[in-house]
Amino acid sequence: MTLYISTPIFYVNAQPHLGHAYTAVVADTICRFARLDGDQVFFQTGTDEHGDKIVQAAQAAGVEVGDYVAQISAMFRETWPLLEVAPDNFIRTTDPAHMATVQAILQRVYDNGDIYFSDYSGLYCKGCERFLTEKELTEGGLCPDHLTPPEAVTEQNYFFKMSRYQQWLIDHIQANPDFIQPERYRNEVLSFLSEPLEDLCISRPVSRLSWGIPLPFDQRFVTYVWFDALINYISGIGYPDGPDFGRWWAGAEHLIAKDILKPHAIFWPTMLKAMGLPPYRRLHVHGYWNINETKMSKSIGNVVRPGEMVAEFGADTVRYFLLREMSFGLDSSYSPEAVLARRNSDLANDLGNLFSRSLTMVKNFAAAQVPTPGPLSAEDQELADACLKMLADYRDKMREMAFRQALERVWEVIGRANRYIVTNAPWELAKDPAQAERLRTVLHTLLETLRCLTCALQPIMPGAAAKMAAALPLDPAAGLAAHQAWGVLPPGAPVNLGENLFPRIKKGQ
Ligand code: ME8
Ligand code: MG
Repeated sequence: MTLYISTPIFYVNAQPHLGHAYTAVVADTICRFARLDGDQVFFQTGTDEHGDKIVQAAQAAGVEVGDYVAQISAMFRETWPLLEVAPDNFIRTTDPAHMATVQAILQRVYDNGDIYFSDYSGLYCKGCERFLTEKELTEGGLCPDHLTPPEAVTEQNYFFKMSRYQQWLIDHIQANPDFIQPERYRNEVLSFLSEPLEDLCISRPVSRLSWGIPLPFDQRFVTYVWFDALINYISGIGYPDGPDFGRWWAGAEHLIAKDILKPHAIFWPTMLKAMGLPPYRRLHVHGYWNINETKMSKSIGNVVRPGEMVAEFGADTVRYFLLREMSFGLDSSYSPEAVLARRNSDLANDLGNLFSRSLTMVKNFAAAQVPTPGPLSAEDQELADACLKMLADYRDKMREMAFRQALERVWEVIGRANRYIVTNAPWELAKDPAQAERLRTVLHTLLETLRCLTCALQPIMPGAAAKMAAALPLDPAAGLAAHQAWGVLPPGAPVNLGENLFPRIKKGQ
C-alpha cells in the first residue's frame, strides 16, 4: 500500500508546544509503522506563514515579518529531530513554489467560474483565521476555542462557490464511512452539512492585510490564509506535474486536531472537487491536550515545550507517554507527574527490567548467545502464542490509530514475560545440570519474546528499540511479517547486554 501522511502546517505566531508535538509524533509513528508493515510512505509537515495573526505576532515581537516567520519556522523544523520525528518534506507556505501553485489553482478555479466578487459582512476570529457562524459562538458570543469576541468585518471580497459542492460532499462522506474518523467527528461534519453551506470568502484586501499571496486575477487582494494553507498538501508533493504526485495523492491521509475540523472536512474537499482532484483518502481527528481542564494553546499561554520535556525525560519516554496516555480522538490531560509515573513504572520497571534481567541471564547462563531450545512446555507455548497474538492485534490497532490499545497489548505481554521469569526461575535451573535443556528453552523463549516486543516498539520508541534490536541482535531490515513467527533468532547468534534502557528518574531531579 501507499501512504502519504501529513500533519497540519503549524502557524508561526509562536513556538512549538506539546500539542503540535503530539500530532507530529503520531504522524511519525504511523509512518514508521507503515514502513515496518511494508508500505511505501511519504510524511510531510511544515509551517503556515501568512495571515493576520502572523503579522500581529511579528509586530508584537518587533521583527520584520519575513525574518520573524523564518525564525519561528526554523524552531518547528529543529524541534522534530529532538523527538525523532523524521518528515520526508518540510514545507513553508512562503516557499516560492508553493505560492506559484496557489496562484495557478486560484486562476484555474476562477476561470472555471467557481470564484465571484461580492460584499460580505461576518464575524471574524483571528485566532481561527476564519469567519464564525452565530451558531458556533458561545452563549456570551465568544469564539469557543479562543474565548475572544470575533470582530465584525464588512468588506468586498472574492468568494469560492463552496455551496455548489455541498451535496457532493455529503454523498461522499456517506459513501465512505471511514473518510473522517473517529466516527464522532464524521457525525459532527454531517450535522454541520445538514444546514445550507455559505460560500467561502477567499480574499483579503491588501489595504487591510498585505502579508499573503496576491490573487492572480486581482492584485488589490491577497489570498485568504486557509485557501493558501490547505494547498500545501498537494503543492508539497509536486502538484500538478511532479512525477510522484498521483501516486502519493492516492494514499493521502491527513492528521489534525478537532480545532481545524471544518477547514479540513469541508473547505478542503470542496476545493479539491473544484480543482478536479479526488478527495484525500482519510482524515484522522484527535482531541486536545489539556492542562488543568484547559486546552494547551499558545493564545492562552499554558504551554509545555517539547524541547524541555525531551531534555528531562528523553525522546522515547515523551513519545511513549503521548501515545499511551491519549485515546486517539479524545482529550487528555498533561502533567509532569503523569510522565514520570509512566517512565518509572511502565518503562523502567516493566520493560527495562524485563530486558536487563533476561539479557543478564543469557549472558551468565548461555554464554551470551541465543541458546538452542528443546521442546516447548505448555507454559512456553502460551507465552509464544501470546506474543504472536499481540503482534497481530498490535497491527490491527495501529492501523486503526488506536495507539493506546496497541500499547496495552504490548504491555500485557511484558507483564506475562516478567511473571514467566518468576515461575520458571532460570537461576534455579542453572544450578542443576539435569535441567540444562529446560534452561536453554526458557532463555530462548524469553529472547523470542523480547524480539516480538522490540519489533512492536520500533515505531513508538525508535531510539530505545534500536538499542533493544542491537542487543538481541535483530535483523534491522526485517519487517513486521518476518517477525510474526516463532524461533526467528538464530541459535548461536551473539547477544549483547547493552546499556540500561530506562534508568529510573527521581522526582525533581
Ligand atoms: O491551525 N492538543 O495551525 P496551529 C492537541 N495553521 N493538538 C494540538 C493542541 C492541543 N492542545 N494545540 C495544537 C493551524 N495542536 C493552521 C493549520 S493546515 C492546512 C493549517 C495541534 O498552529 C493540532 O494538530 O494552530 C492542531 O490541529 C494544530 O496543532 C493547530 O496548529
Ligand atoms: Mg490554532
